[in-house]
Amino acid sequence: MRQIIYKSVTTNPRGHAEDDAVAITRQALLRNGLDGITGLLYTQGTDFLQVIEGPDDSIADLLASLLRDPRHRDLRVLVDRETEDREFGDWMMLHRERRETVDAFDRRLHALLLDVSHETASYFRALMPA
Ligand SMILES: Cc1cc2nc3c(=O)[nH]c(=O)nc-3n(C[C@H](O)[C@H](O)[C@H](O)COP(=O)(O)O)c2cc1C
Repeated sequence: MRQIIYKSVTTNPRGHAEDDAVAITRQALLRNGLDGITGLLYTQGTDFLQVIEGPDDSIADLLASLLRDPRHRDLRVLVDRETEDREFGDWMMLHRERRETVDAFDRRLHALLLDVSHETASYFRALMPA
């Protein structure tokens, strides 16, 4: 199982990464389900922070797609490692629900981060409002 955590910046002219998140998550659910990929997509201002976990081949293919996706730029891989288990559970791509407030999602995320490694949590905490 391979885990990648990366940060990137939206190319959306309005500068809100969140604006593309619904379309991206919808697209992700289709492919991730087929490829055994799970994870979490977090947006904060102009930034995306995403965790993708799954079989090595699937992750390599998705990373190649992500690198040529014009909806974001400056993709920087923060973590790239082999893991025994999925650290983020089996969400096909967890993201804030349309009707969920930003605060409610952040609370959900804070709870999730209690179960992940200190290093992984630190990338999220660095972006999340206190
Ligand atoms: C921030 C961001 C996160 C994305 N996350 C996923 C994802 O988890 N799964 C996925 O299939 N596509 C995701 N995509 C879309 C892919 O980059 C790509 O457009 C899509 O998988 C289709 O791949 P293809 O262009 O190689 O056919 C994401 C795109 C962006 C900009």
